[in-house]
Formats: sequence, C-alpha cells, structure tokens
Amino acid sequence: MNTRVAIIGGGPSGLLLSQLLHMRGIDNVVLERKTRDYVLGRIRAGVLEQGLVRLLEEAGCAGRLHAEGFVHDGTLVAYGNEIFRVDFTEHTGSPVIVYGQTEVTRDLYDAREKSGGPIEFNVEDVAIHGADTDAPHVTYAVDGTARRIDCDFVAGCDGFHGVSRQTIPLTVRREYEKIYPFGWLGILSETPPVNDELVYANSARGFALCSMRNDNLSRYYIQCSLSDSPDDWTDEAFWQELKRRIPAEQAGRLVTGPSIEKSIAPLRSFVTEPMRWGRLFLCGDAAHIVPPTGAKGLNTAASDVHYLYHALRDFYDNGSSAGIDGYSETALKRVWKAERFSWWFSSLLHRYPDQSEFDLKMQIAELDFLRSNAAAQKAMAQNYVGLPY
Ligand code: FAD
Ligand code: DHB
Repeated sequence: MNTRVAIIGGGPSGLLLSQLLHMRGIDNVVLERKTRDYVLGRIRAGVLEQGLVRLLEEAGCAGRLHAEGFVHDGTLVAYGNEIFRVDFTEHTGSPVIVYGQTEVTRDLYDAREKSGGPIEFNVEDVAIHGADTDAPHVTYAVDGTARRIDCDFVAGCDGFHGVSRQTIPLTVRREYEKIYPFGWLGILSETPPVNDELVYANSARGFALCSMRNDNLSRYYIQCSLSDSPDDWTDEAFWQELKRRIPAEQAGRLVTGPSIEKSIAPLRSFVTEPMRWGRLFLCGDAAHIVPPTGAKGLNTAASDVHYLYHALRDFYDNGSSAGIDGYSETALKRVWKAERFSWWFSSLLHRYPDQSEFDLKMQIAELDFLRSNAAAQKAMAQNYVGLPY
C-alpha cells in the first residue's frame, strides 16, 4: 500500500491528525494496535483547551462537543480551611470545555469512518524503516499476515509505550524524566457532580480532585500510594477518603454511588528530544508525558498535532520544508511550558512522603499568594486555559 502519511497509533493524536490531513486532501493511513472498543474504554482526560476545540472544529468534529460539553469559566482551589476561585474568563478572556477524551476519540472515529478513512485495527509488530531516508516504509502484521506501507512521512502517535520513539537512535535521542512518589486513584460514577466547577484540593491527607463528564457522571481522584491497587479500595473507602480531603461544604453535599470505573495512574514528567528524526515525527504521549494535575496531557498532544498538520500542509501545498524542519524546536518550546505548569501545579497540591515542615510552609505560602494575588492567578489561568500555539 502507498500513502502520503503513515500514522502509528489511533488515539486522539493520531485520529485528529488523520482527520485534519484528510480534510486537506492529504492521504493517510492509521495503524492501531488495539480495537476501537478498547481505545474507547480507556477513561482519561476531561478538560479541553480552546486550541484543541478549534482543531476539532477545523476537523469537522466539534458538533457534539459544543452541544454536550460544559463551558467552565473558572475552578476552585481548596487548602486547609481556605477555598478560592480562579476565574479563567476574567483573566484570559477564555474558558475551558469539559468534555471527555473518550467522547473526543469517539467523534474522531465516527468522522474517519464516515469519510472512509483507512484505519487498521489489531495491528502487530509495527516497525518503521528508512525514517532517515526520503522513502520511509512501515511494516506490520494483521492476523499473522505481513503488510507494508510506503509513505512520504511517518507520524508517531503511538503513546508512551509505542515503537516510534524507540525508532530514533539512542545516539540522537535524549530523554528527561521525573517520577512522582504517588499515584492517582480515579473513579467514574453515575452521580451528579458535587460542584458546577472543578475542585482541586490540597489536604493534609493528600490531593483530591472533583471533576465531571456530564450532569450525571462524575469523575473524582485522590492521591494514593504507588503500591496501592484499585482492588484495595472499596467504593465506600474511596468516598470516605474523598470526603475527608475536600472542603466540608462540598463533602456535605457529595452524592455517592457505585463506581463504574476505578483505576490508578502513576504520575510522571517525561520529554524526549528531538521530536523529529528524518521523516519520522513524534506527537503527543509518544514524545512527552505530564502528571495529570492541570489536564495538560491531551491538550499538549493537540498542540503537537497543530504544528505537524501545518508543517505537512506547507510541504504539500507550497513545497516548503520550513515547517517540517522547525517542527521539533517549535513543538518542544510549548511542550516544556506545559511540563513546567503541570510540575508546578502538582508540586503545589500534593503531599510528598519526604516533605519537610519547611517544604510544607512553602506550599502553604505559595497557595496563600495565589489566593490573594491577581497577577499570580492570571499566570495560572493563562497556563490552565492553554498557552497560544
Ligand atoms: P494515546 O492516547 O496513548 O494513544 C496512542 C495509541 O497508540 C493507543 O491507542 C495505542 O493503543 C496505540 N499504540 C501503541 N503502540 C502501538 C503500536 N506499536 N502500533 C500501533 N498502535 C500503537 N491527561 C489529562 O489531561 N487528564 C487526565 O486525567 C489524564 N488521565 C490519564 C490517565 C491515564 C491512565 C493515562 C495513560 C493518561 C492520562 N492522561 C490524562 C493523558 C492523556 O490521556 C494523554 O495525554 C492522551 O491520551 C495522549 O494521546 P495520544 O494519542 O498521544 O496517546
Ligand atoms: C480531569 C483530570 C485532570 O487531570 C484535571 O486536572 C482535571 C480534570 C478529569 O479527568 O476530569
């Protein structure tokens, strides 16, 4: 098979790039290791920046998002006996949209299917060849049958555990990593959200977050030990712990119910450089991971897609390689800023096992400053709603 862009990975990055290129008449094929149902079963991010919303509009996939997503103009931050609100719209002119990654992915799959876009599921043994030549190709197998795609470019959108990043030789690749000494235990429950905006809480018992997907679907997280397993936590134990970590007013009106999903995510900051090797480009989690605090993972994947989409358009429409040549540097500038914000927001809100009394005082002083300082709130709001592309 021949195509212009072979896209490895059918998560949000790969699908969004595929649909955007398709809208501009640039042929592409998506190779996904799992099934569509498996990908849609993964509960992940829930907060979308305007940049991602605009890309979904351009991809013709924002109808349901605008009809069903929630516009959030601000968020609450709680610590000790204090609670304050950061108003995104007041400080930046922009809200965020609460709409689950699962729904974004479903909308993109529907659009690709409607336009007959080729997506191969259940692919195995994907390998990228000749990325440092002008004629790369990708080999893989489906049901034990070997296949090959010849292409102009390869987009590595295959997440943290994919093959694309590993294809870049270690002599070229440099990786930066920070592992956090705790995880997030998350549950999804068919209950009304406790608050109409998100609540981020720094409590003496550890971090908690109250989020949502719709009027009757809530998403809650609590900081947990890395050695915990979801089976260690009954629903009852989860709700008890959540109530002890959030402000009394919210705890008093929290509606609990059975969880329909429960999972633990480790927290990691990770960046690989460069994000391009020859004709291979990394996008999203294949190139970088952020701790989830601040919801930057999916949104940062989207900014990579934006840069790569424009670079490829420039190549095919105008014969210019400038976007392609600058892709890694341009994308990484924004990636590092999202890394900084996620690291800062995580550091502000979690309890660390080795935290000294001094460290704790610093955390509280920073929260006091944020609560009472408009400039600090503005800086937080600018990062939360998303830095410009
Ligand atoms: P992925 O979503 O990882 O998609 C990559 C795709 O590539 C997958 O479908 C995978 O099956 C496929 N693939 C992998 N290897 C191969 C291969 N060899 N061949 C073919 N296909 C392959 N972000 C937030 O902002 N907020 C959150 O609350 C949040 N929670 C998260 C919880 C978890 C458990 C995880 C893992 C991530 C979470 N994130 C969160 C991050 C966010 O979900 C990611 O940033 C986002 O999914 C990145 O999209 P992606 O398409 O780049 O990668
Ligand atoms: C969600 C996850 C986050 O990491 C975050 O900062 C906000 C919301 C969520 O899953 O809803």
